[in-house]
Amino acid sequence: MENYNFKKKLIILNKKNVALIGHMGSGKSILGQTIAKKLNINHIDTDLEISNFENSTINDIFLSKGESYFRDLESKIVTKSLDQNNIVLSLGGGSILNKQIRDKLKSNSITVFLDVNLNELNKRLTHSHKRPLLKNTNIFSKLKKLDTQRRKYYLKADIRIHNINSINESYLNFIEIFSKLNDKNNKN
Ligand code: S3P
Repeated sequence: MENYNFKKKLIILNKKNVALIGHMGSGKSILGQTIAKKLNINHIDTDLEISNFENSTINDIFLSKGESYFRDLESKIVTKSLDQNNIVLSLGGGSILNKQIRDKLKSNSITVFLDVNLNELNKRLTHSHKRPLLKNTNIFSKLKKLDTQRRKYYLKADIRIHNINSINESYLNFIEIFSKLNDKNNKN
């Protein structure tokens, strides 16, 4: 797919952008970067925006200011970012818990749920030190708990991709489904 066709498709679908959602470790950042590079469009990683805004890591924001401070900032930064046109966004895993974000996603974005099973996520996240919610806890149990709260929202996405093989495969999968979406209310 070319840049021109991507933009044209968004106009047909009456949407501004494409937003990747899903659990921590599901590959939202890397797939977002890949889509942006291949289609020559801009990419926003909302966690990176939050980090830059605070001049701090996500870990340190949780530690020094607390999760609710982070969630408020996330709400502001994500809803603002979702107003941009013709971009791909990688959202933090918990952003869909916020009603304002969910409403904005529904009206502005083609949402893509990167679905990865919890065993695989557990493996990928075991050595991650970037996730405050996974510190000093049993990662699998925590993921299970988060999944119970979040999966119902993830499943509302327009597109669902099992991001378990190569990123290129997931990219091609995304393009195939995205190019076949044909009206604003259509679900694949
Ligand atoms: C979170 C996911 C993280 C980050 C923060 C909280 C969550 O983003 O926003 O640590 O609640 O699932 P990633 O999904 O990019 O890891």
